Formats: sequence, C-alpha cells, structure tokens
Amino acid sequence: MNKITVIGAGTMGNGIAHVFAQKGFNVSLVDVSQEALNKGLSAIAKNLDRMVAKEKITVEDKEKTLGNIRGYNELEAGVKESELVIEAATENVTIKLNIFKELDKICPPHAILASNTSSISITKIASVTKRPDKVIGMHFMNPVPVMKLVEIIKGYSTSDEVTKQIIELSKKLDKIPVEVNDYPGFIANRILMPMINEAIISLFEGVAGVEEIDSVMKLGMSHPMGPLQLADFIGLDVCLSILNVLHDGFGNAKYAPCPLLVNMVTAGNLGVKSGMGFYEYTTGSKELKVAKSFKVPA
Ligand code: CAA
Repeated sequence: MNKITVIGAGTMGNGIAHVFAQKGFNVSLVDVSQEALNKGLSAIAKNLDRMVAKEKITVEDKEKTLGNIRGYNELEAGVKESELVIEAATENVTIKLNIFKELDKICPPHAILASNTSSISITKIASVTKRPDKVIGMHFMNPVPVMKLVEIIKGYSTSDEVTKQIIELSKKLDKIPVEVNDYPGFIANRILMPMINEAIISLFEGVAGVEEIDSVMKLGMSHPMGPLQLADFIGLDVCLSILNVLHDGFGNAKYAPCPLLVNMVTAGNLGVKSGMGFYEYTTGSKELKVAKSFKVPA
C-alpha cells in the first residue's frame, strides 16, 4: 500500500495523516471545510516543528513529510486510486454511515475502508457497504504521533486477510497493533471510560476534589494524566457519547454516565476544546487550574 486517504482534518485525522506521511506514504487529507483543512495542515506543521526542536527529525524530514500530504475538499477527488481510506470524521453514527455509503460507491473495489471510530460498531458501519469483508477499525490514540497503540477492530464480517494487512501496515508506522473483536467500546474505551466515569462520580459524591482525584491516579498508578484531566483532553462530549454506547450496547446500569458529566456537556463545558472542563484552559499556561465555574452540589 502506498496511497492512503484520511477523511477529517481534526486532531485525530491530522495526527493519522502526519504519521503516514512521515513514513513516506502518499497521503490525501480530505475535509469538507477549507478552514478545517488549513487548521489540520498547520497543526501537522506545528507538531513536526516540535519534533525538529527536540531533534527527533531534521528540517528536511519535516519538508518531506509535508510534501507527502495533499489536501482536498472533495471526497471523490481525495479517494482516487486510494488503497486504504481511514475515516476520522466526527463521532456521529449518521455522519459515519453516510460517509461509508458514499465511499463504497466511489472507491476502487479493492480498497480497504477503515474507521478511526472510538466506539461505533464496525459491523454496523460495514453493513451499509457492499464490501463488509474490507471494512475494519483502526483506532489510533491521541496524540497520534506519540501514542504507540493502534486498536485493530475486526468487524463481524472483516476478513482475516484484511486484518493481517492492516496489522502489518500499522507495524510499518512503528505502532503496536492490538487485535480486538467488535463489541461496544472495543477494549480501550470499555476499560478507560468506566474509570473516567467513576472519577466523575467520586467528584459528584464529594469523596474528593478535582486535583485530589487526579493526583491519586497520577502519583499512585503512574498515569501521565489524571482521569479528569484526561476526560478534558479527550472531550467531555466524546466521553459521554462513548458511555452512552456502552450503556445502550450492554444494557447494564454500571455504564450509566454520571449526571455531572451530562450537565457539563449540556452546559457546553467540553474540556480543552471549549476552554473549560474540570480545568480551565483559557490562560494559555501549561499549569493546570481547576475551573472556577465548576459546580458540584454540596
Ligand atoms: N505531536 C508530536 N509530538 C508530541 C505531540 C504531538 N501532537 N504531543 C506531545 N508530543 C511529544 C512532546 O514533544 C514530548 O516529546 P519528548 O518526550 O521527546 O520530550 C512528549 O510528547 C511529551 O509531551 P510534553 O512534554 O509536551 O507533555 P507531557 O509530558 O505532559 O505529555 C502527553 C503529553 C503525551 C499527552 C501525556 O500527557 C500523555 O501521554 N497523556 C495521556 C494521553 C492518553 O491517554 N491518550 C489516549 C487518550 S484516549 C484516545 O485517544 C482514544 C479514545 O477513543 C478516547
């Protein structure tokens, strides 16, 4: 495989384009909005600059990587001759199903269609195409250039051959692929989200404050970020939507999202991306500051 298309230039999409381009793949990055595309391309350049500053790559490597990426606003032009399309659009079932229906029509028949979904069923996505054996989950972690894991999700009809190809490809990116079956939340979020939810419930019940909860998990379990900071980093809306997938998918009350999480999302406090979550991100400082507006019932 040499020609790869990434759909969606947001944090995950531009990170995926970055790692493929850095390994010499010919990458088409597609986003319907020119503004989002420009933002994604400048995020890649900024992350490459950071790597140059840390002497992990040379300026020449950076230029080569950027030269391997082309931006497109139109799906059809972006997927032309692509052997693999990785969808990293908004985490919304309807949007994803529509994209896959369209991809199935316009992509070469041999092309593999992958989704970077964090929790939407690969089997469901595959069911709207005429090539369910060639639909697979490639779940990268944020920040994509840094995190080693790619969770490879085998849908109900995904072929062994396609799974093998995607595992080998992930290794070429210097990532570590881990194969899992397609059940709600796969493995990463089936385990991560209940931990985050439990941290929010602990805060909601007044067991401890924001910094205390995060300190316990950072200092006691060597997590690089506490669960509340991580929830802000992932996006509280994304956490809520994944918990709803787990709750609906298993019909088990243990996955019910904490009402505090629901309230924060409803109020628009979505974490880093909105400037406010459990912490404030408006000062531009790297130091964490617990959100002033943070309200927990006494
Ligand atoms: N691109 C390239 N390099 C980057 C980067 C990026 N976007 N972001 C960070 N880095 C590099 C830095 O240059 C730095 O490199 P060195 O080690 O060589 O110095 C290294 O990563 C660490 O970065 P920082 O020093 O800036 O900051 P940090 O030490 O606080 O680490 C972090 C930042 C890597 C994000 C770390 O806090 C971490 O690992 N956090 C947990 C992340 C995590 O759990 N991700 C998974 C989220 S879940 C998910 O993505 C899936 C889902 O479905 C919800």
